[in-house]
Amino acid sequence: MPSSADDQARPLPFSKELDGISKKTIDIHHDKLYVGYVNKMKEVGQKIKEMAAAGTGLDAANQTYSDLRALRNGETFAVNGVYLHEYYFEALGGAGEPAGALRDAIVEKFGSWEKFVAMFSATGMAVRGWVVLCWDAQLGRLKLYGCDAHDQGGVWGCIPLLVLDVYEHAYFIDHGSDRKAYIQAWWKNLDWKAATERFNNVKGLSAR
Ligand SMILES: [Fe+2]
Repeated sequence: MPSSADDQARPLPFSKELDGISKKTIDIHHDKLYVGYVNKMKEVGQKIKEMAAAGTGLDAANQTYSDLRALRNGETFAVNGVYLHEYYFEALGGAGEPAGALRDAIVEKFGSWEKFVAMFSATGMAVRGWVVLCWDAQLGRLKLYGCDAHDQGGVWGCIPLLVLDVYEHAYFIDHGSDRKAYIQAWWKNLDWKAATERFNNVKGLSAR
């Protein structure tokens, strides 16, 4: 599970060349974009801490515009940008389908592995940002969500298990505007180890 509470960027969890996602794409995605979110997370966090300590600007808090509003909006965008990218990179570098309890639960929920892959992939074509297979602790079961931005469409009480980034920066160098080809390549590079471990840890977890 991502642990960016220490505010440090995590190194790429794999070193192998991926199939259909170039090293250039991964390097830019990780070293520039992801690290940029980590840096902004730290910057915003520090400014909020300073504001809380000094108490300055709190009386001016305003929902149309205020310094605190700008910081709070930036905070959730940056923090979710960090977490979602860590889940995304964590699941790359492998070459197969999962085995064990997570696969069994997916098949039970979606009817078959092929139906799961079809719905997950189609969701990736229907949204602008992220596809998230999660353990929804409100429902007490697996759930698939899609969202357009880091700070939009997330559901409270969900533990991400498998995360796909469908922003253009994840594939445009390799596939141009052909997002479907990128998603097909993504499936071939998955390492399910962390997702399976996390599922085993959280299955049964209830937020109610
Ligand atoms: Fe990304």
